[in-house]
Amino acid sequence: MTQEVTVLGLESSCDDTAAAVVRRDAGGRGAILSNVVLGQDDLHAGFGGVVPELAARAHAEKIDLAVERALAAAGLGLADCNAIAVTAGPGLIGGVLAGVMCAKGLSAATGLPLLGVNHLAGHALTPRLTDGLPFPYLMLLVSGGHCQFLRVEGPDAFARLGGTIDDAPGEAFDKVARLLALPQPGGPSVETCAAEGRATVPLPRPLLDRPGCDLSFSGLKTAVLRARDAAVAAHGGLPREMRADLCASFQTAVAEVLAEKSRRALALSDVTAFAVAGGVAANRTLRAALEDVAAAAGLPFVAPPLALCTDNAAMIAWAGIERFDAGHFDDLTLAARPRWPLDRAAAPMLGSGKRGAKA
Ligand code: KG4
Ligand code: ZN
Repeated sequence: MTQEVTVLGLESSCDDTAAAVVRRDAGGRGAILSNVVLGQDDLHAGFGGVVPELAARAHAEKIDLAVERALAAAGLGLADCNAIAVTAGPGLIGGVLAGVMCAKGLSAATGLPLLGVNHLAGHALTPRLTDGLPFPYLMLLVSGGHCQFLRVEGPDAFARLGGTIDDAPGEAFDKVARLLALPQPGGPSVETCAAEGRATVPLPRPLLDRPGCDLSFSGLKTAVLRARDAAVAAHGGLPREMRADLCASFQTAVAEVLAEKSRRALALSDVTAFAVAGGVAANRTLRAALEDVAAAAGLPFVAPPLALCTDNAAMIAWAGIERFDAGHFDDLTLAARPRWPLDRAAAPMLGSGKRGAKA
């Protein structure tokens, strides 16, 4: 690694239109020169979830604006970049297409090479951008659309040790918030409400009785629904303390299940660190539980800052740099892929989440 590399990254696979410029210096260290995220929360707020067609149109309208802003914030032009990286999947296909078409246009106009990046690889490689983490490490990806344990072995080498067979944990937080009439996104509002309660409501610990690292969250959500209905029937409404206890009980169940499965994944994986990414990694109860698991295994715990845990284009630019260094370039035949498992040898995951089909 002798040459400095600067890459423009584009991300549009769910509900954030994002562009960023990232530079890797000759010593291998990454620096984020700009990181622009144009969210779509307002657009989808009235629908209780992301509407793929609306998301795709908004991406197509705003992706060039995001690029302009990212270049301006970095104080650079396209001519200062060495390549263009873009999320080519997995995700909502209309949005992915908007990003890929924009990146192809920029590549065709400038002659800069194109790097098609797997969105999940972007999340999984982020600890290398933020902390220079060496391979191999264990990554737990927990967001509104993803949930999987990955042994990250190289820029394009990932072994999936397990994942959710139904909902992602963020989806479960969002659904529980809806059941309890708390605002969206559900994660932060459930966490705030839980702070006033005690984890006294008995809820299941799904799949703990089964060996391995797979997870399930949809039964937990149904159990919260039943407990809510029982409380409403008993009290003629949902008392505030009962709602707080339900939130605390649900959050504890999620944290305990993820902690136990993390213990198992670490026991299986022979790694030098335990890293976490995704919006749910913002949850303090969960973070504390995972930190304990890492400490008990004698491993460092790495959680990138929140803005780099949630969807962003800096992670795509960095994953692009890792491809650049490996000489893995794409051309104008690059295809947008709704499904794109990182571990090609693993069986497909079931279900479909906020971002469409699960990887
Ligand atoms: O990674 P992200 O921004 O988007 C994708 O899903 O890709 O994650 C968003 C998810 C939402 O479901 C949100 O409710 C959840 O992360 N989340 C949290 C917290 N903050 C965000 N879940 C639990 N506790 C939180 N503090
Ligand atoms: Zn994501």
